Amino acid sequence: MDSLSSSSLSPYYHIIFTALAFFLSALFFLLSRKSKSRKLNLPPGPPGWPVVGNLFQVARSGKPFFQYVRDLLPVYGPIFTLKMGTRTMIVISSADLVYEALIEKGQIFASRPRENPTRTIFSCNKFTVNAALYGPVWRSLRRNMVQNMLSPTRLKGFKNARDIAMDKLVERIKFEADANDGAVWVLKNARFAVFCILVAMCFGLGMEEQMIETIDQMMKTVLIVLNPRIDDYLPILSPFFSKQRKEVQEVRKQQIELLVKLIEKRRNAIQNPGSDKTAATFSYLDTLFDLKIEGRKSAPSDAELVTLCSEFLNGGTDTTGTAIEWAIARMIENPEIQTKLYEEIKIVVGDKKVEEKDMEQMPYLNAVAKELLRKHPPTYLSLTHAVIEPAKLGGYDIPTDTNVEIFLPGISDDPKIWADPMKFDPDRFFTGREDADITGVTGVKMIPFGIGRRICPGLAMATLHVNLMLARMVQEFEWTAYPKNSKVDFSEKAEFTVVMKNPLRAHIKPRI
Ligand code: HEM
Repeated sequence: MDSLSSSSLSPYYHIIFTALAFFLSALFFLLSRKSKSRKLNLPPGPPGWPVVGNLFQVARSGKPFFQYVRDLLPVYGPIFTLKMGTRTMIVISSADLVYEALIEKGQIFASRPRENPTRTIFSCNKFTVNAALYGPVWRSLRRNMVQNMLSPTRLKGFKNARDIAMDKLVERIKFEADANDGAVWVLKNARFAVFCILVAMCFGLGMEEQMIETIDQMMKTVLIVLNPRIDDYLPILSPFFSKQRKEVQEVRKQQIELLVKLIEKRRNAIQNPGSDKTAATFSYLDTLFDLKIEGRKSAPSDAELVTLCSEFLNGGTDTTGTAIEWAIARMIENPEIQTKLYEEIKIVVGDKKVEEKDMEQMPYLNAVAKELLRKHPPTYLSLTHAVIEPAKLGGYDIPTDTNVEIFLPGISDDPKIWADPMKFDPDRFFTGREDADITGVTGVKMIPFGIGRRICPGLAMATLHVNLMLARMVQEFEWTAYPKNSKVDFSEKAEFTVVMKNPLRAHIKPRI
């Protein structure tokens, strides 16, 4: 999911790096000619310079990485190689290749690559579900998250947190609209609502809105310093980045300081039942305090708890918020879809507030949500995979320590798989004309949550959050363009997820 754009580099650095690149190219040219990779049958790719490879082409293109990849598809096909300094990236983008890698050869492709130094700090040396190598640590952490936190029974237990967050969302939207002539920002509000749910699930503590905002701000700062830098690909340049490295240490320190206070508070609440009246009966932290990790004697340290909690909060916030922003944009663009959805909600729940139990009786809502995740998968590049041993894919060699990137729209926009794929059309699912198994087991057609051993463990919760928020937002308000009669701009922009380039501001009218 890495992106590297020239905007992160000052012009001054460009000059230094270009000069250095020439110097390094000359120096290492002979070595690289002899290098082992020449004997490998790697997928084709754009020619690059020795040593730096395609790194500067990507950085100087000015395009987000997903766009760079998209533009290469017609030239190099569904599997190609990019040399990014010392990293080799193999990008795959067809259903067949993804099926071969993640289902047929699922175990071999189930690992993660080496991490850059910044990520190593924030992941406590790969002590998270998403970053752990395929092995005992990953199994222990993932099993705990799936069984003790995200199982259907556990999910039901957090209904109260969802109800509170949904009511708060409606209230915030009304308040913002009242103060702004009916206009509201969509992503900001949806993100915050889902963040409130995840914070409640993670820490099990009652919290003022101000504190939730502070944690949210902290998470955003972390995501910014996690953005890849050029020295992640060319470690020889790291002496130029000592200031940035200090900043990383500082942000990590602040993150630990902030979250350890909450961890302590929860520990206290569990050890002294009844002492904190706001404390919930259960939280993700509770599952982690004494967690047994295969091959390890000690339970997670405080720093590791901070890392695991951050993973839980980050995994589901921007992804779900982004989905809602695109959803509302599509509702505005297609008022007939919005009306059909509203009619379904009214028929099923009447004048009551829409609740999660109602969702099973709403096939149109489910079709809209599915079409949304097909057309707008919140991340275009899945988390990076790596092989546990040298492997073959599509007849090419995939060495270990190679980044295997999966470009999701290559599959969900493929006209060989979908009729009129660029059209947003929930009816394709509603009428049963087309269908897709998003777990990929019976075939790959759309994979917004990835597939195989590393499939997103939050799939069920995320789907519930998207459906619930969308249903509630459409039940409460009629959404139209702001300014009136303007056209929604569907341009994309890469942040942690792929958001709308011009953040969506919409006009609302309360329905009741
Ligand atoms: C609409 C919302 C979401 C989308 C689109 C999404 C998408 C994804 C994708 C594409 C992956 C990578 C799969 C792979 O490596 O092949 C992933 C992994 C992951 N997601 Fe999600 N996700 C969402 C919500 C959540 C939520 C709510 C959580 C939990 C709180 C979560 C936690 C994780 C974790 C821990 C992983 C790593 C799994 C592993 O490496 O074993 N995600 N997600």
